Amino acid sequence: MVKKVRLGLIGTGRIGRMHARNLKYRIPGAELVAVSDIMEEAAGNVAHELAIPVVETDYHKLLQREDIDGVVICSPTGTHAQIVQEAAAEGKHILCEKPIALEIDRTEKALAAVEEAGVKLQVGFNRRFDPSFKKAQQLIKNGEIGIPHIVRITSRDPGPPPISYVKSSGGLFLDMMIHDFDMARFLLSDEVSELMAYGDCLVDPAIGEAGDIDTAIVVLKYKNGAMGAIDNSRKAVYGYDQRIEIHGSKGTIIVGNKTPTEVRLHTEDAISGDVLLNFFIERYDDSFLAEMGEFIECIRNDKDPSVSGIDGLMSLKMAYAALKSLKTGSFACVDSSRS
Ligand SMILES: NC(=O)c1ccc[n+]([C@@H]2O[C@H](COP(=O)([O-])OP(=O)(O)OC[C@H]3O[C@@H](n4cnc5c(N)ncnc54)[C@H](O)[C@@H]3O)[C@@H](O)[C@H]2O)c1
Repeated sequence: MVKKVRLGLIGTGRIGRMHARNLKYRIPGAELVAVSDIMEEAAGNVAHELAIPVVETDYHKLLQREDIDGVVICSPTGTHAQIVQEAAAEGKHILCEKPIALEIDRTEKALAAVEEAGVKLQVGFNRRFDPSFKKAQQLIKNGEIGIPHIVRITSRDPGPPPISYVKSSGGLFLDMMIHDFDMARFLLSDEVSELMAYGDCLVDPAIGEAGDIDTAIVVLKYKNGAMGAIDNSRKAVYGYDQRIEIHGSKGTIIVGNKTPTEVRLHTEDAISGDVLLNFFIERYDDSFLAEMGEFIECIRNDKDPSVSGIDGLMSLKMAYAALKSLKTGSFACVDSSRS
């Protein structure tokens, strides 16, 4: 029998609980050995639900365990870089939720530690594993739409996160649009050279008071000449709106929203269907599963994860360029150096 890959998970909040359940019930090659959270109750509840033997309030104790091959980091963003460095020093492979850090230099330091330790680092850009987005990327790569000219990405949440989360998140560009910055790079296998950002607080004044924006559009210019536009909103009253469109010299690819069923009701007055899947846990269920599956396979077969630390760094550089553009009101260049 093939030996299971043994993992620890740090941070048992929204995303941590979801990864823990996937590891327990849906990924036969993995075993979740220990969970850690500074809130003992949060970790204890997950451990109780999933029969995980070890609960630690201090993640260092989890990292020091010799019976663990890797860690899944799901604590707040501000803690990631430090934990990545410490996990690497303990020789653990790492799946780190996005973004790797709130600062570019902290990200670079974490990547250097990973490189020095020779462990694997996969960044949690789960949307790359979404079957539809993945197929779109393959079609572009195969030349099915010729030369890509325009990329449009829409990502709107059903409602804003709690203000406590907003305050520690790094803001909309680093926390939310970072997924779309990564998607923009992934779809065209190309870097963005410059961008222009517009943003405001149009949804909830409390978000503005916390120093953040809740609505933004960023216009992109790729190195190869293509153009793009990303729009984000923290609130779409009709649900979690996730669409992409790529237009090229030979055609267009459209990826629409997912609904619980494909049933459409046609009457004299209207054609209607289901509302959208509620939020990321539901919409991206299969991508989270595939993401974790790849992490386990990379550890087992000594392969490099397809979503690397460099992908984490480049998307963060785009987020910083967007912040600069928003502040200055003009275009900002994206630093495309890879260190
Ligand atoms: N890939 C995605 O689509 C996606 C979606 C949501 C969140 N995230 C990322 O996941 C991370 C967590 O987000 P969330 O929404 O689950 O947050 P959350 O606030 O729901 O959960 C975070 C948990 O970490 C715990 N924690 C805080 N400091 C800790 C420490 N030092 N050691 C151990 N545990 C600690 C908290 O007590 C909390 O239980 C963030 O970095 C976020 O950007 C990614």
